[in-house]
Amino acid sequence: MEPSALLTKALHVIKPFYKTSETTLYNGSCLEVMKMFPDDYVDMIFADPPYNLSNNGITCHAGKMVSVNKGNWDKSQGFAKDLEFHKKWIFECRRILKPSGTIWISGTNHSIYQCGFLLQEMNFHVLNDISWFKPNAAPNLACTTFAHSHETLLWAKKDKKAKHIFNYDRMKNGDFAEDKIKAPNKQMRSVWSIPTPAPDEKIFGKHPTQKPLALLTRIVLASTNDGSLILDPFNGGGTTGVAAKIIGNRKYIGIDTEKSYIATTIKRLENILTHE
Ligand SMILES: C[S@@+](CC[C@H](N)C(=O)[O-])C[C@H]1O[C@@H](n2cnc3c(N)ncnc32)[C@H](O)[C@@H]1O
Repeated sequence: MEPSALLTKALHVIKPFYKTSETTLYNGSCLEVMKMFPDDYVDMIFADPPYNLSNNGITCHAGKMVSVNKGNWDKSQGFAKDLEFHKKWIFECRRILKPSGTIWISGTNHSIYQCGFLLQEMNFHVLNDISWFKPNAAPNLACTTFAHSHETLLWAKKDKKAKHIFNYDRMKNGDFAEDKIKAPNKQMRSVWSIPTPAPDEKIFGKHPTQKPLALLTRIVLASTNDGSLILDPFNGGGTTGVAAKIIGNRKYIGIDTEKSYIATTIKRLENILTHE
């Protein structure tokens, strides 16, 4: 490596906020933190980027009309800047993903088309687009559209020819197989009915867009094996890390710009044996 490149690399050190033998959490922007990682480093990435929908609309929560705003991190900067942001982090994910690795990207109509376009532009091979159906979705208070009751999860691999991990049998017949009793031995389909997180998943702090543990448990079980290194560049309340720790034998790296969300994650991780 050229001395100037070495110097740049040396200057670019962000210390973990929290570290155990299995979990490393960074408080910072994933755009900066991911630069520290070598090429072909992680086995699986679950990314739930900002939806960019917090622009002063209204929604329904627990039967009440509330602001749709999630936080400053979720404000749209306009189409072109949002696209540029997604391009930067997906590009970096591609660099650090192993050739056999897969990436999951979760989003709503506000973000998922841009992310899907970029996956295709960067030559990822899309394996599935999963529809996460929320049976307990809130109604549309304005009564002007269908009630928004799903999010989309894109699952893609870096190299079309490489063999990726898919624990097919476990999804078909394992504990997480859908309708195991009514329809045993049935292939898992691409529409997943999973309720939004129950209150007991939020006892250590509330994240406005926290994903259900059942969703991330399924994803981690489907697409990783013992020894896999998992990265979540938009850690939020840490659901991916909690799923990885409960399943066991995986390493996890989480990154988030908000210190309070990292703090919630630490509490969740440290209370797994007693509460999760
Ligand atoms: C949609 S939420 C993720 C929720 C998470 N999947 C969960 O289950 O709790 C997006 C998260 O990305 C974080 N964020 C926004 N911009 C970021 C950036 N540049 N780098 C790292 N984290 C960022 C926000 O603070 C927020 O917690």
